[in-house]
Formats: sequence, C-alpha cells, structure tokens
Amino acid sequence: MKIYLKLFLAVIGSSALLAPTFAQDFLEQGATIYEEYCEACHQVDGVGFEDTYPALKGNKFVQGDKEELIYLILEGRAGMPTFIADLEKDQLTTILNYIRNSWGNKAELIEQEQMDELYEGIAEEDDGFGSGN
Ligand code: HEC
Repeated sequence: MKIYLKLFLAVIGSSALLAPTFAQDFLEQGATIYEEYCEACHQVDGVGFEDTYPALKGNKFVQGDKEELIYLILEGRAGMPTFIADLEKDQLTTILNYIRNSWGNKAELIEQEQMDELYEGIAEEDDGFGSGN
C-alpha cells in the first residue's frame, strides 16, 4: 500500500512541476533574445523610445490578437524589421510569449502550431516575406 501512495505522489508532483518549468524556460530564453534583438530599439523593460520606438510594456497590441502579432514578427512593418532571418520559428514564438508576459504584461500563450501554420502560409505566397506583403 505504501509504495502505491509514494508512486501516486511522485506522479502528482512531477505534473505539477511542468507548468512553472515551461514558464521559466520561455521567460529566460525570451530575455536573452530580447536583449540581443529587440532592446536596442524598444529599450530595457520595453519602455520604448519617445515617438520612434513604441513601448511594448502595457501595449494593447502586444497583449492582443495572436495572429496579428505573429504577422508583425514575420513580415515586419515600417521601421520594425522582420526577424525570420535571425531567429528560428520556436525562438519567434518564445520572444512573442516573452513580450506578452513581461513588465506587467499578461496574455495567453501563443502555441508553436499557430506560428508554424502562419509561417508556412506566408512562405507559400508568391511575394513571400517582407513588409507590406
Ligand atoms: C531597428 C529597430 C527595431 C528593432 C530591433 C525591433 N523593433 Fe519592434 N518596432 C520598431 C518600430 C520602429 C516599430 C513601429 C512600427 C510602425 O510604425 O508601425 C516597432 C513595432 C513593434 C511592435 C508593434 C507595437 C505596436 O504598438 O504596434 C512590436 C510588438 C514589436 N515592435 C516587437 C519587437 C520585438 C519582439 C523585437 C525583437 C525581436 C523588435 N520589435 C525589434 C523598431 C524595432
């Protein structure tokens, strides 16, 4: 009987650990990506820079529609570059989930599946990736 109880506790314990570990991963990896690829323009803590670079902190678009946000990182927009050449598809998902859940931002996580689907869709278009397509 005792051994079953231990097993039961072990199973409950490990599944309870999964969620926070995942969250920690994307936050840690996201912070590294942010520093390297986003911070120069959007600044430390996502506060932005005057009228040039929009703040990501407290930003409704960042915490809003997932598809719009994915299109932005894949296609770019005005002075915002596309990041498809610099980052892998899973890193693109990571950085978006990071900005959606940092500096007080809070939004539902984007699934890798949705990123992959939109990525493939754009890749199949004749005019491909790039701002304004
Ligand atoms: C070279 C400077 C530059 C870099 C680097 C950069 N951005 Fe931007 N970003 C911009 C500019 C400029 C805009 C505003 C574009 C516009 O006017 O539509 C913008 C807009 C955005 C927006 C939309 C904000 C809104 O309110 O519409 C998001 C989200 C965003 N950037 C995320 C990122 C992420 C994530 C990274 C790093 C992977 C990044 N940016 C790197 C310049 C940059």
